[in-house]
Amino acid sequence: MRKIVLAGNWKMYKTQAEALEFLQGFVNHLDETPEEREIILCVPFTTLGNLSKNMHGSRLRLGAQNVHWEDAGAYTGEISGPMLTELGVRYVIVGHSERRQFFGETDETVNRRLKAAQKHGLTPILCVGETKQQRDGWETETHIIGQLEKDLVDVDQNNLIIAYEPIWAIGTGDTCEAKEANRVIGLIRQQLSNADVPIQYGGSVKPDNIDEIMAQPEIDGVLVGGASLEPAGFARIVNYK
Ligand code: PGA
Repeated sequence: MRKIVLAGNWKMYKTQAEALEFLQGFVNHLDETPEEREIILCVPFTTLGNLSKNMHGSRLRLGAQNVHWEDAGAYTGEISGPMLTELGVRYVIVGHSERRQFFGETDETVNRRLKAAQKHGLTPILCVGETKQQRDGWETETHIIGQLEKDLVDVDQNNLIIAYEPIWAIGTGDTCEAKEANRVIGLIRQQLSNADVPIQYGGSVKPDNIDEIMAQPEIDGVLVGGASLEPAGFARIVNYK
């Protein structure tokens, strides 16, 4: 049985005060959320501690947006697995396209970060996806298969979530057609040794397209950027029909 996983990715948004304000406006909506849905917020490092303290008793789970492969060391600007687990973090996004595009993340570093996350008991959310140019050049399939081959070397598929995020659909309002996302996610599943790995769709998910996306048989959840910043909108997403 595949899990349903609905995650918000706040990227570099919200101070501690803003995060607490969101929490107050959001948690009550979870009373309506069916039990089997896993709800995660992946927030900036600076708000993890405060949110963690204030989330007690809620079914909301906490995620980070990156993790380094070493436990400690001279790596200015990085955060390690033990630093995250100490704060009650359970999930971590790895290999988001913005990390790959703007911060030099490669398949090799993504692979190292995935293994480090698992070593510390964190569940990584691995992001894969093609650019517009790759899609137009009919390279979507080969690109994604290539990413999975390199990223998943020696990674435990029993503690893993994958997010299919076509880069051209991120933050653009240009959602990938639900049936097409379903097709690519089916292809991703064929590359895995564990067919039960939850695979999410990400890229301009909104309250008005969530029902159609979640109606697709291969799609096990969503990774939501912009629309996870506002309590009522994200509530509508996690309470999809
Ligand atoms: P978006 O971002 O929902 O704002 O398109 C998704 C993501 O980058 O995970």
